Amino acid sequence: MRRKIIAGNWKMNKDHREGAALAKEIAAGLAAARTSCEIVLIPPFTTLPAVIDAIHGSAVKAGAQDLYFEDEGAFTGEISGRMLRALGCTHVLVGHSERRHVIGEGGADLSKKLRAALRNNLRPIFCVGELLGERESGRAFDVVTGQVRECCEGLEPEEFSRVVIAYEPVWAIGTGKTATTRDASDMHGIIRILLKELFGTAAADQTPILYGGSVKPESAADLLADVEIDGLLVGGASLKAESFLGIIPR
Ligand code: 13P
Repeated sequence: MRRKIIAGNWKMNKDHREGAALAKEIAAGLAAARTSCEIVLIPPFTTLPAVIDAIHGSAVKAGAQDLYFEDEGAFTGEISGRMLRALGCTHVLVGHSERRHVIGEGGADLSKKLRAALRNNLRPIFCVGELLGERESGRAFDVVTGQVRECCEGLEPEEFSRVVIAYEPVWAIGTGKTATTRDASDMHGIIRILLKELFGTAAADQTPILYGGSVKPESAADLLADVEIDGLLVGGASLKAESFLGIIPR
């Protein structure tokens, strides 16, 4: 059985004061309720220290939204995996759709970022997903498996065993349109077949594959009930304690 992961990607929201308050509220809500899921909060860089303080002593973990692929040096404006690890992060997003499509990051850099995360003992949450036009033209499976292959191929199975995959169809992010559980489950199944080919059955079977894209308390239970869906990457609904806690099964 793979343990379910519920991660909240706050994107560019919550300054350090707002973030500390939200993280405390979430940690308190979880302490009262108990869950078997792994919970990860993913705030902006400048909010991370306050969130890490706020969740201290709880089971909640902290992740970053991005990292640079070098560990230190003359790279103005960048933050390294080494710095994130030193701060107390356990996870880091790599290749979120907004990094790919708004900021323009491509596979070559994302491959290096994935390796930088692993080298620094961070668990990368590697994000993949197709555009609406790619789904409508029947290319969704090819696009998504291509994204996984492009960045993950060549890793040792032992390295890959620390990777989390997040399937986030771009057309479902921030639009209120969730993929059906069936669509998400089918895509996760296809990704897992590729992982078997690349890394063997044992590594593929233990890799968590999360779904993200307009997840709300009303849609979460159905998605999480599917055996192929190992957790959720939540955007908008993770910005309020009530809705984020409402997504987490007890
Ligand atoms: P929304 O839940 O706001 O659609 O965002 C999803 C997402 O991009 C999480 O990383």
